[in-house]
Amino acid sequence: MMLSYVTLLLGAVSLGYASDSNESCPAITQHLSDPPYENYFYSDCHVDAQSVITSPLPSSNLTIIGPRLIVAWPAGNSGLCTFFKPQNGKNGTLGMELVNSTLGEPLRGIYDTQGSSDVPNVGVEGVISFNTSTELTIAILGSIRNIRDFTEGPSILEPIIQDATKVTKFNKTGVQFSRLWLDNITTTTLTLIPWENPDIEIEINNGTASFGAGFYHFSASLNYPQLKQLAPGQVLDRDAQALIKEKPSQTSSLSFFSYTEKLLAGGWRFLTYFGRDSMISALLLEPVLSTGNGSAMEAVIGAVLERMNRTDGSVCHEETIGDYATFLNLKNNISSTAAGFTYPMIDTDYFLPVLMARYFDASPKRINPLLNVKAGSVDSENKNLTWGDLSYIGAQKIMNMTKAFADEETVENLMRLKESEVVGQWRDSTYGLANGRIPFDVNCALVPAALYSISKLAEMPGVYPNNSITQDWAAVAAERAKIWEDKTLSFFQYNVTVDEAESRLQEYMDKNTFYDGPTHADTLANYSSSGKVIDYALAINSSDSPEKIPIMHTDTAFRLFLLNSTNDDQLTTFINATANTIIRPFPAGLATPVGAVVANPALSGENVLIANFTNSAYHGTVVWSWQLALMAKGLERQLERCTKPNSAPAFCSDKGVYGAVKKAYNILWDIIDDNTSLLQSEVWSWTYSGNAGYKMAPLGALPPPPGVSGGTESNVRQLWSLTFLSVARNTDYK
Ligand SMILES: *[C@@H]1O[C@H](CO)[C@@H](O)[C@H](O)[C@H]1NC(C)=O
Ligand SMILES: *[C@@H]1O[C@H](CO)[C@@H](O)[C@H](O)[C@H]1NC(C)=O
Ligand SMILES: *[C@@H]1O[C@H](CO)[C@@H](O)[C@H](O)[C@H]1NC(C)=O
Ligand SMILES: *[C@@H]1O[C@H](CO)[C@@H](O)[C@H](O)[C@H]1NC(C)=O
Ligand SMILES: *[C@@H]1O[C@H](CO)[C@@H](O)[C@H](O)[C@H]1NC(C)=O
Ligand SMILES: *[C@@H]1O[C@H](CO)[C@@H](O)[C@H](O)[C@H]1NC(C)=O
Ligand SMILES: *[C@@H]1O[C@H](CO)[C@@H](O)[C@H](O)[C@H]1NC(C)=O
Ligand SMILES: *[C@@H]1O[C@H](CO)[C@@H](O)[C@H](O)[C@H]1NC(C)=O
Ligand SMILES: *[C@@H]1O[C@H](CO)[C@@H](O)[C@H](O)[C@H]1NC(C)=O
Ligand SMILES: *[C@@H]1O[C@H](CO)[C@@H](O)[C@H](O)[C@H]1NC(C)=O
Ligand SMILES: *[C@@H]1O[C@H](CO)[C@@H](O)[C@H](O)[C@H]1NC(C)=O
Ligand SMILES: *[C@@H]1O[C@H](CO)[C@@H](O)[C@H](O)[C@H]1NC(C)=O
Repeated sequence: MMLSYVTLLLGAVSLGYASDSNESCPAITQHLSDPPYENYFYSDCHVDAQSVITSPLPSSNLTIIGPRLIVAWPAGNSGLCTFFKPQNGKNGTLGMELVNSTLGEPLRGIYDTQGSSDVPNVGVEGVISFNTSTELTIAILGSIRNIRDFTEGPSILEPIIQDATKVTKFNKTGVQFSRLWLDNITTTTLTLIPWENPDIEIEINNGTASFGAGFYHFSASLNYPQLKQLAPGQVLDRDAQALIKEKPSQTSSLSFFSYTEKLLAGGWRFLTYFGRDSMISALLLEPVLSTGNGSAMEAVIGAVLERMNRTDGSVCHEETIGDYATFLNLKNNISSTAAGFTYPMIDTDYFLPVLMARYFDASPKRINPLLNVKAGSVDSENKNLTWGDLSYIGAQKIMNMTKAFADEETVENLMRLKESEVVGQWRDSTYGLANGRIPFDVNCALVPAALYSISKLAEMPGVYPNNSITQDWAAVAAERAKIWEDKTLSFFQYNVTVDEAESRLQEYMDKNTFYDGPTHADTLANYSSSGKVIDYALAINSSDSPEKIPIMHTDTAFRLFLLNSTNDDQLTTFINATANTIIRPFPAGLATPVGAVVANPALSGENVLIANFTNSAYHGTVVWSWQLALMAKGLERQLERCTKPNSAPAFCSDKGVYGAVKKAYNILWDIIDDNTSLLQSEVWSWTYSGNAGYKMAPLGALPPPPGVSGGTESNVRQLWSLTFLSVARNTDYK
């Protein structure tokens, strides 16, 4: 059965400075329309907030999309989320919107120092309209993490949070929802008051509020210390300031995600630290990001070092702050607001030396000031250490863990997910790696790149201490890097004959439930190598059962982006296979008119993979912006090597291979250029029908694959989706 179309018009971007703003504290606002979601970003010198209003469209699946208002604050990863339903009981009849008013267009900031708290009460207010009478069904006040547990998990509501929410009359005609956090200090408040109309009423009945159709003044606020945002001019390098005028919407978003203490991963769901996201973004944005004291680059590196695990040298994946931190502490019978830090990933450790080596290579003067910073201001466990100490512990971890494979090149000695975890790299949904434990990206790209970088860092004075442990790192790490670079790929490489690939493709057509267009089977013969389709497993199952998981994917881009292989035979085969996978249209390959999909099981011949890697799976046949950027930049870096006559790799002079790489580069860029309005969002999907062909569809609007509880909603803006600020088509390779 085909899905009905979901229309998405992303665009309608208006960027403005609120007119009634105070001169010394200008408001920076941005409205991003992503129907059924309307996003409003608001920042001034007192508060940063993102508001998202959801109003179902006639085409929306009403089981998944309901009327909802979210306000999210980066400070404390805080937020509030309220769900509404039409009082007439007919889903789809309630429309809600934020409207311009004398309060704001549509929002203005709240800054109130009058309260009893030491911390000012800050937030946003404006006017919301309901086209029909409505009931507020659920209000979750406090942490975005509690809100996500509800919207993404199996609708979890925590009694300790929900029961503390007070619903009271406010100022005679209004209603106020408020909740004192578990810290006993912070209160999140939402008030709604009939706006300029004495005839509409709010009824409060046993904790439930209902509203007549009309306009309401709403205000959402909290008294929690705010972060210090970096203005666009501070996030971007001196040479990149022109981008502020050229790409105001994207630079404004980059600024919204950038603070002195850290960069945030995306809004509204991830307005907080994520190690992998910030480092990949920094690597791709490196040419335009500010450097030096107080810069965006140092905010990224500093945030990572600050949050490292001092015991084992792991880099933190995600921090738990604000009310959710107190909530988790309480679950462990601890009464404390101390932040928590999680270390489930295995890929994140390796990005750090790569980023540090690139940064310090360009800014050697910053080695000492940055590494001498005393840790502990965010992660109190790290008190008494410097960021340099933590970086050294992390490098030791990598040196310790990579030794075994250098000594003996076996599957057992490859990097695998942590014992207790089902995820471990960027495809971090339950089925993102098809239950594989030994991922391609970590083994074939991240580990060797990190080792080369540790070798370089070991040669830079002041990075690591001089001692008996580090004395031979420069040489040992480089040697080991080469082993990991050259010897891992063969564990993942596999091939099938073109005939076999064609029959598997046919099987995919029979079994998948969302695509019935052309197979493009002819491209298998044209874009392969001597009758063989060569590819690289997304992951190896496990060391006990080392099957290669035959899913086409884009993680090959990590290798092209991070390594310049000098093993010509291997590089020629690898880069040709990678290019051919991009060139072949879906389902024979990865290219669709809405982007290259990050995974495709069509040539696997395996039912389980076909059933799980769908167009509604978070890491299925869907498009991730930053993966497009990574692949584009990776291919470009390899093509650039061909311009250096003395060191050009062999593939540059193989017409078939060089031609394929250039073709892949241009196909990819043609697709990127066709979808510019989507590039800043996190991830998107598509539907297909015989009449209309491919149509872009928001991931959150598609029903989830079997066994997954809720569709995953995409963030309208994601830090690593802003990397096209620095990744651009190089027309030399047209
Ligand atoms: C109506 O909306 C509610 C809340 O979003 C949802 O649980 C229910 O399944 C919807 N009903 C239909 C018929 O879609
Ligand atoms: C609301 O105000 C903003 C900013 O002035 C403007 O861009 C937008 O078009 C207005 N919306 C409506 C519906 O008038
Ligand atoms: C309460 O209502 C009165 C009269 O309607 C109004 O003047 C006043 O501004 C309101 N106060 C707040 C805090 O909304
Ligand atoms: C908040 O107050 C409660 C009740 O007095 C107390 O049990 C709890 O420990 C306090 N929480 C914190 C984080 O101080
Ligand atoms: C009031 O709400 C509570 C909890 O939602 C419910 O258990 C109770 O039955 C309700 N009382 C009435 C009179 O509706
Ligand atoms: C840090 O690493 C040690 C050793 O692996 C582990 O026991 C500890 O739980 C980690 N800390 C956190 C906060 O996860
Ligand atoms: C830091 O050092 C002080 C004084 O030496 C000591 O009391 C404290 O326990 C140390 N903290 C940590 C986290 O090691
Ligand atoms: C690395 O290995 C050495 C020697 O076994 C050990 O002393 C050290 O604690 C390890 N460090 C880390 C961070 O794994
Ligand atoms: C295809 O795979 C087989 C079996 O692993 C291997 O022997 C052969 O060399 C591969 N062919 C190519 C062209 O990679
Ligand atoms: C590289 O791929 C092209 C198709 O794009 C194919 O014609 C050529 O034979 C391949 N070359 C090698 C060396 O595999
Ligand atoms: C690989 O070579 C390209 C082109 O010269 C260069 O831009 C890139 O930085 C190199 N990458 C590494 C890891 O050395
Ligand atoms: C709407 O979503 C539900 C829940 O995921 C799903 O079962 C149903 O098939 C969807 N309806 C349509 C028309 O796609």
